[in-house]
Amino acid sequence: MSQVPHITFCNGQKIPIIGLGTWQARDEEVRQAVQLALECGYRHFDTATLYQNEEAIGDVLSKWISEGKVAREELFITTKLPTIGNRAEDVPKFLTTSLKKLQLTYVDLYLIHFPVGCKGKDENDLQPRDSEGKVVLDMSTDHKSLWKAMEEQVDAGRAKSIGISNFNSEQIERIMKFCRIQPANHQVEIHAFHQQRELRAVCHKHNITMCAYGPLGAPYKEKTKEKTVLQDPVVTSIAARLGKTPAQILLRHLIQLNIVVIPKSSNPERLKQNFQVFDFKLSDKDMRDLDNLDQGKDGKLFIFTESMIGVENHPEFPFKIPF
Ligand SMILES: NC(=O)c1ccc[n+]([C@@H]2O[C@H](COP(=O)([O-])OP(=O)(O)OC[C@H]3O[C@@H](n4cnc5c(N)ncnc54)[C@H](OP(=O)(O)O)[C@@H]3O)[C@@H](O)[C@H]2O)c1
Repeated sequence: MSQVPHITFCNGQKIPIIGLGTWQARDEEVRQAVQLALECGYRHFDTATLYQNEEAIGDVLSKWISEGKVAREELFITTKLPTIGNRAEDVPKFLTTSLKKLQLTYVDLYLIHFPVGCKGKDENDLQPRDSEGKVVLDMSTDHKSLWKAMEEQVDAGRAKSIGISNFNSEQIERIMKFCRIQPANHQVEIHAFHQQRELRAVCHKHNITMCAYGPLGAPYKEKTKEKTVLQDPVVTSIAARLGKTPAQILLRHLIQLNIVVIPKSSNPERLKQNFQVFDFKLSDKDMRDLDNLDQGKDGKLFIFTESMIGVENHPEFPFKIPF
């Protein structure tokens, strides 16, 4: 049985501290990645309705479970409610569809993917756009009724834990006031250039664990002319001294901060390498040097206003305030 270090949620559930990200990996690519990841010892997989790869992931997981190579209880599966499902009445429908595709009876963690609601033509219109290319917003998004519907998924046994993604501190404080079951985890962009110290403090105060997406600062690396986090001289020099790769240093930095990481890779060598982060430890000095790479909001890579034109007009757009 694979022994992956874990973090414990406020409800006692354990999440493996490293999982495989699967955004932008579909069909045969994600099938091969999940198969190899299971062979390497990964037991935690991160997907979403939006990624349109739950069926392929479910195929591999169900094969492993039915062949007795892994027990369902050893796996930790996260999926996410799409923005077009950000209404109380849509939550059970989207989670049920995800479970069917994943061939599971429950997910370990169900997240609200993004605090903004959108209006799709149907369940498959996951990124609705109008004739001008602007995102079709549902201005009536109500987090209180939405969260109640999320809690009902735990009651119904469809999700072991529930959480949020891309929420700001005010939205978290609001949920904490009205929740019956609190968010167990918050998934946000975190990497050495964008360390989210203030948001981490808010989550820590409420005993909400954190999961870093984009922990390698990618896939935006090719789009920028500036040095990426993987190419940063502080990162590369620590890597060279310890005989590790820059990615291993970046992942280890977050792991030592008690943050769950979900690096995505479909490349066999990189996927294996990203998991080999438990045979070394960064010194206090290395941790400090990596902490000092934080660029605050300037280090943010995921802007959303470029891929979702007009999203900033929604009352729940989370990035109107610093954190
Ligand atoms: N909640 C949200 O809104 C949200 C947003 C974004 C992402 N996510 C989740 O978080 C996961 C991770 O984030 P991400 O995929 O955006 O970024 P990431 O994991 O930081 O980076 C992935 C990119 O880095 C490359 N890569 C992987 N390992 C590498 C290594 N060892 N050295 C150099 N390059 C490497 C990958 O290419 P290869 O595949 O070719 O290796 C891929 O292009 C996603 O897959 C998804 O599950 C969630």
